[in-house]
Amino acid sequence: MYPIWDVPYLSSALIVGLISSFHVLPSHLAVGALWVTVFIEKLAYSQNRSDYLDFVKRFTLLLLIFSFVFGSLSGIGIWYSATVSSPRAISALIHNYVWGWATEWIFFLIEIATIYAYYLTLGKVDPKTHIRLGYIYAIGAWISMIIITGILAFMLTPGKWLETGDFFDGFFNPTYFPQLFMRTFLMFGISGIYGLLISSTLNYQTKIDLSKLISKIAFFGMILGGLFSLWYYKKLPAETYQIIQGLPYMKTLIKVSILSFFILLGYFLLVGFIIPKLNNFALSLVIIVIAFIGILSGEGVREGARRPYIINGFMYGNQIIAKDHPALKIKSEVQKFEETGLLTHLGYLPQNLKKITSDNRLEVGRIIALHNCANCHAFTKAGLRPLPKLLAGFNPKSPEDIDAFLSALSAFPYMPPFAGNDEERKAAAEYLFTLVSSKK
Ligand code: HEC
Repeated sequence: MYPIWDVPYLSSALIVGLISSFHVLPSHLAVGALWVTVFIEKLAYSQNRSDYLDFVKRFTLLLLIFSFVFGSLSGIGIWYSATVSSPRAISALIHNYVWGWATEWIFFLIEIATIYAYYLTLGKVDPKTHIRLGYIYAIGAWISMIIITGILAFMLTPGKWLETGDFFDGFFNPTYFPQLFMRTFLMFGISGIYGLLISSTLNYQTKIDLSKLISKIAFFGMILGGLFSLWYYKKLPAETYQIIQGLPYMKTLIKVSILSFFILLGYFLLVGFIIPKLNNFALSLVIIVIAFIGILSGEGVREGARRPYIINGFMYGNQIIAKDHPALKIKSEVQKFEETGLLTHLGYLPQNLKKITSDNRLEVGRIIALHNCANCHAFTKAGLRPLPKLLAGFNPKSPEDIDAFLSALSAFPYMPPFAGNDEERKAAAEYLFTLVSSKK
């Protein structure tokens, strides 16, 4: 086991969630943008609209800055935050998918090289060559999505991998294709929002013509993306629905993401077919914020639906291996931690904290509680699922009450069993009781 990353109020989970949700915008823009741009560039040549080339130039610059600076930074941010938040889960993913990532990065390199070439050679090489560069980028970027979606979808629906441990069984898992197509079409919606933002900075006639065109592309992309989202939702396993139905705020998150979807769809419909001049810079920014809120809620549902696991059916949110995996010769750790205790597995602890004594009970109790709960709960009085508040809901009168709660933790379908032996559980309960009693 590794040290724990305790983030006041937010919890490490929400940090990963916020960075990842932000990353959806630049990453999907990166994959969708050039399909739209190349299409518009071709129109510029075939309809003799050199003003469209202004769009191509500005939009590609936006892509360079937003996707390849902010997107790259947030991509690294996901790796960094997820690694410190759940090192064992990342380790499990790397053990399975290191070659998947290596392949993805090759296409990522192609993307980076061609996007610079595309931007810098506009108007300087013949149109045919320039368009070809655009296609190389667009195809390379889409292949990177084809690869990364397999690994992302795996975490919620590992499918047959749970029995076989096979790379491709996990990769082509039950939600792989719905999710690939959902992302592929929704990315035209995301590209559309940014396309409208750039169009709004161009001269009037160009703005009107491009706003219409881009909104139409985005509108149909969103319709198809919406249909594939439904297919994705249908493919989720039955336990996932139970979790979603059991958590009250899930319905709110689902409603918010559906609402934001329809606001976007309505906006594209209006601008594309009815009043294109509605598009302006400020409104485009508002639409970006609405899209972000929708994505954040959608990601929240996806994350919540995976509880109590971090890799569904294999590793719990507290990073304990939940079930035997004979094909990979991995054993469930639940019993192991119950019998041998958690402390003996925390190599980073100084000697004086490796054993519970009357002096260090609360300090060690806190460490054990952090390992068990911090991945999903804030330890502060407010924030993400704040423990002082949630525990107070049971009105515990003594540490023994909390201990009884911890013993029965896995009776809650969304929580993993407590990891640790009896003595450790008691120490954790004593510490957790101080959180509740100090509240009064
Ligand atoms: C895998 C994530 C996860 C872990 C680990 C986890 N919980 Fe939870 N816990 C949840 C979820 C999800 C809920 C549902 C309530 C919510 O989301 O606001 C919850 C709810 C609770 C509640 C309120 C119960 C209710 O339904 O009213 C308490 C109390 C609680 N957790 C304590 C703990 C303690 C103590 C630990 C550590 C020993 C812990 N949890 C570990 C995810 C987790």
